[in-house]
Amino acid sequence: MLDSPEFHRTLTWVMIGLALVTFVAVSRITAPYGRHTKSSWGPSMPARLGWIVMESPAVLLFAWIYFQGEHRFELVPLLLLGMWQFHYVQRTFVYPFRMRNEGKTMPVVVCAMAFGFQVLNVYVNARWISEFGSYDVAWLSDPRLWIGAALFLGGWLINVKADAILIALRKPGEQGYKVPRGWLYEYISCPNYLGEMLEWTGWAVATWSAPGLAFMLFTIANIGPRALVNHRWYRETFPDYPDQRKAVIPFVL
Ligand SMILES: NC(=O)c1ccc[n+]([C@@H]2O[C@H](COP(=O)([O-])OP(=O)(O)OC[C@H]3O[C@@H](n4cnc5c(N)ncnc54)[C@H](OP(=O)(O)O)[C@@H]3O)[C@@H](O)[C@H]2O)c1
Repeated sequence: MLDSPEFHRTLTWVMIGLALVTFVAVSRITAPYGRHTKSSWGPSMPARLGWIVMESPAVLLFAWIYFQGEHRFELVPLLLLGMWQFHYVQRTFVYPFRMRNEGKTMPVVVCAMAFGFQVLNVYVNARWISEFGSYDVAWLSDPRLWIGAALFLGGWLINVKADAILIALRKPGEQGYKVPRGWLYEYISCPNYLGEMLEWTGWAVATWSAPGLAFMLFTIANIGPRALVNHRWYRETFPDYPDQRKAVIPFVL
């Protein structure tokens, strides 16, 4: 039956399977957006619009599904809703307007695939926190909630600051790429991805749930390999790229 706990559990497994498939796929084929965009992927659309469209279910649909749930007015589910929206309002309605990507495009198919994934992700996570999961007030004194929330917030701060540094590398109207310097960029090429992975690890810990774990695995599977590709791209593009810099985990990877 649709929207039963069994159906929800099945979709959670689908997401975990998709994380595995994505890991294999993006390790072989780099997603064609941003610096790796390609015209051979069919029709394209303005990149800024693409970001807004593909991330919008994470704000709008998430809120709608959340407020169908039986536990919608309980404290802990509301707190988790706040965490999720804290990230996604920024990503959907603030970040795309800060990007300096005038004239840049992305393939429509990339936007469509990301949109489709977000619909699945949103159903699995929103339905969990306000309906199928169970978070009574005792969860407020469970360290998992606060350790997860701290990881989430720390990851968010790293992600937003790292993106802001990249965005500031271009003057308005510029389109090219430069070597980012300073702060975590002295250690790794992609602190924005590190921050994103920390955030969703925090979400998995704070919700202590299979849906949270599924999104954490998907994020790592999706942007982990991209961090390695971006790192290689920097080394190949800039002959003076700092030697000691790693891809995504300082001193390690
Ligand atoms: N949860 C997930 O699975 C997931 C998946 C993908 C992305 N994200 C998040 O979405 C955000 C954007 O991702 P992304 O893959 O587009 O990140 P990105 O490749 O690092 O690009 C971020 C922004 O900075 C610009 N930029 C990057 N490197 C630059 C350089 N060396 N010089 C000048 N400008 C530079 C990019 O311009 P261009 O667009 O022109 O390249 C883009 O506007 C990140 O915060 C990421 O964590 C999350």
